[in-house]
Amino acid sequence: MGTTSTHEHEIHDVVGIGFGPSNLSLAIALEEHRANVPDRPVKAAFFERQASFGWHRNMLLPSTTMQISFLKDLATFRNPVSRFSFVSYLHAAGRLVQFVNNQDFFPTRQEFHQYLEWAAAGLADRVSYGSEVTAIRPVGDAGTGSPDHLQLEVRGPGGDVRLVRARNVAISTGLVPRLPAGVTADERVWHSSQFLERFRGLDPNELKSVAVVGAGQSAAEITRFLYDMLPHARVSAVIPSYGYSVADDTPFANQVFDPAAVDEYYFGTDRAREAFWHYHRNTNYSVVDDEVIRDLHQRSYEEEVRGHKRLHFLNLTRVADVARVGNETRLTLTSLLDSEPQELDVDALVFATGYEGMDPAGLLGDFDRHFLRDETGRHRVERDYRLVAASGPSCGIYLQGGTEHTHGLSSSLLSNIAVRSGEIADSIVLRRAEQELAGVRAVEAAGAAVRA
Ligand code: FDA
Ligand code: NAP
Repeated sequence: MGTTSTHEHEIHDVVGIGFGPSNLSLAIALEEHRANVPDRPVKAAFFERQASFGWHRNMLLPSTTMQISFLKDLATFRNPVSRFSFVSYLHAAGRLVQFVNNQDFFPTRQEFHQYLEWAAAGLADRVSYGSEVTAIRPVGDAGTGSPDHLQLEVRGPGGDVRLVRARNVAISTGLVPRLPAGVTADERVWHSSQFLERFRGLDPNELKSVAVVGAGQSAAEITRFLYDMLPHARVSAVIPSYGYSVADDTPFANQVFDPAAVDEYYFGTDRAREAFWHYHRNTNYSVVDDEVIRDLHQRSYEEEVRGHKRLHFLNLTRVADVARVGNETRLTLTSLLDSEPQELDVDALVFATGYEGMDPAGLLGDFDRHFLRDETGRHRVERDYRLVAASGPSCGIYLQGGTEHTHGLSSSLLSNIAVRSGEIADSIVLRRAEQELAGVRAVEAAGAAVRA
């Protein structure tokens, strides 16, 4: 492992941390700004810790579909004529006509992944893969919280460290997998975010009994996949509710993901924000697409008809304990329908127990104390997605994700990324112009003072 550290002298206007769909969309917005204003491009660089582009690769299960319309792509809602739209991709791939004939608003996740890879390849010179940002530090602030610029520590593929400079950063490091307290992942106990890689690492013939914990989209998709891929295995779905509930994507409810809903949420009252969650959490969390629910029920019903059961739904049930017994994993389950805990031995156990939102505090380290928090301890965020700083620093920390409490339900989703990225790009350009103007005025004022 190398440990050399190199300092770069160029100060970027913005450095993007993570190159998933959110920052890919920002790279496109900046590219389109460059096309419109070629003499003043925004100097941007992106760092991605994966070795190549990948979007939740471990959940690219066959036949799974997107949960948004193909028109909610990286660019269309901001710029309907973008060359980075999903329609442009289809045209380039020679599939536009067939896609229209297919009459489906919701592409497979495989196809959307291909689209994202295609878009990322078009911006390959802006991103360094295999590069993890490990820290953000202010430079030249003398403890005031108003730094001249930011320094980012970037660990490269060989362990070498680069120090990169920027006036702004856009943090877009994604959701954080959540395991229940006391559970540790190992080669037979996985979080859903590890699923395909772990599954492919085992001999399917060894898997005679498997269990999936949770009642969200990930849990239902994995349960269906395991049932289909392991025709001799017992598949147990450990469900905290009485059965899967449907994700509401009907037209009126879907308005919570509209760009306009961000303003209504951001500028709304606390009661309005609470109402968004109270009425519309079921558009996204702990819910499953209708088609997957029906698929699972159909499999279960066919078993009833055949009189042979290997798909078991353990309703109103949670995991109380996980223990290793030889090669097997022993679950202790508690059900609200039964006073006695049950034991279940499995060869593989998947916790599809969801994710925590993005939190920038780890990357900011000590610098985080310069940013304000609300009365419940969450970061305060400007409408343009910048962290609110105690002393109004000139450098912006923009968040793509982790803003559900300020900007609403689309924070961790794809629905609004085209518009959000455009707003962030506009904010970077506007603030740069304001700072340059302020600099010119300061020089003029100093000149006037000398002359006086
Ligand atoms: P994302 O997590 O995609 O990307 C973050 C990137 O940052 C990763 O590539 C990671 O490697 C990188 N990174 C992290 N830390 C880093 C560091 N320190 N330095 C450098 N790089 C770093 N939403 C929706 O609207 N419609 C949908 O159909 C789906 N489908 C879906 C399927 C599955 C299985 C999941 C788990 C989630 C979804 N989602 C979704 C929600 C999901 O959050 C969304 O699709 C995007 O992944 C959000 O894109 P981001 O770029 O914000 O995060
Ligand atoms: P999720 O919706 O948050 O669901 C997590 C599930 O785990 C819930 O049923 C939750 O129950 C349960 N759970 C949490 N802790 C538990 C515990 N200790 N014991 C038992 N159960 C527990 O997570 P997800 O299904 O991973 O979905 C996350 C996001 O990814 C969503 O936006 C989803 O739409 C998206 N996604 C999309 C696709 C796709 O595009 N095809 C596929 C997968 C996921 P409670 O309700 O009781 O907390």
